[in-house]
Amino acid sequence: MASESITLPRPDDWHLHLRDGAMLQAVAPHAAAVFSRAIIMPNLQPPVTTAEQAAAYRQRILAALPQGTTFEPLMTLYLTDNTPPAEIERAAASGFIHAVKLYPAGATTHSDAGVTDLLLCYDTLAAMEEQGVPLLIHGEQTGPEVDIFHREAAFIDDVLQPLLDRHPRLRVVLEHVTTALGAELVTGDDPRLAGTFTPQHLLYNRNDLLVGGIRPHYYCMPILKRESDREALLEAATSGHPRVFLGTDSAPHPQGAKESACGCAGCYTAPVALGLYAEAFEAAGALEHLPDFASRNGPAFYGLPVNREMITLERECEPVPAHYTAGDQPLVPLRAGESVAWRIRQPHPA
Ligand code: DOR
Ligand code: ZN
Repeated sequence: MASESITLPRPDDWHLHLRDGAMLQAVAPHAAAVFSRAIIMPNLQPPVTTAEQAAAYRQRILAALPQGTTFEPLMTLYLTDNTPPAEIERAAASGFIHAVKLYPAGATTHSDAGVTDLLLCYDTLAAMEEQGVPLLIHGEQTGPEVDIFHREAAFIDDVLQPLLDRHPRLRVVLEHVTTALGAELVTGDDPRLAGTFTPQHLLYNRNDLLVGGIRPHYYCMPILKRESDREALLEAATSGHPRVFLGTDSAPHPQGAKESACGCAGCYTAPVALGLYAEAFEAAGALEHLPDFASRNGPAFYGLPVNREMITLERECEPVPAHYTAGDQPLVPLRAGESVAWRIRQPHPA
């Protein structure tokens, strides 16, 4: 008989966008209701490039949490062509900065200040090797000549492999893996390399985005790929490999910015992500690997303890609202107006 419930340590999200201002106020409580900790993306405008800015942003996140919530934001720095090695030392000494994020310039939302050529960052990456600070990678090769569906594969061949050769002690997370090639790479035997997987890339392919009309709430970067890629991602994420883990890439934009002639990339998944992952793992017949993926492999890679609190997911239909509200703007989640097959069991009132 199919499982009706599964108990696991409270999960963490190893890739989350919380934004700032009114959006932060709206989405921080959603993430904190599900996850214990999250790696917070630094692509604000302007980006979080210094330890001092990360400290201030961390305080704004903590201030946006409901009373009594224990949610730990794990901060990151946004790598630029000019990040000095001394900033890495400040980050490593801070105790609250856990990684540095690489956005290739022009790859996605708010990536204009990103890296134009990794060779310019040689000394800074050497400092990260020295300090054991992981590099989180948005792995897409940019430029008008690179086809949007081929950007991850091109990045792996042209940028990632040479980077790993140049910096033999650098620890790397290839984030939001979207191709069979990426899945094969992160499930290999290189202990320096880990991968995160989003719920949308495990559940959907590019037909879901484009057939019968453009569905802007399925549009994210890297873009959804073909069905054979999705199958390879699902196999990798559910394989039980110790260096694959949960990273939602939940990326909220107001409804008007998504449903537009030039819509923003990003799926808002934080409130529903855990149920979506459970659907994907159930479909793969691998629910028993969900606790490692969601709760244990990430802390092991980052050298952090597994959360002690346990939660139970139950196979109960959870309706998804048509929208949330951020400031005076609607915020539409993935699966809006539909439902998710798994939900977190709430403790019985005393
Ligand atoms: O779809 C995406 N949205 N991909 C990213 O890498 C960035 C994110 C965002 O910040 O909106
Ligand atoms: Zn992201």
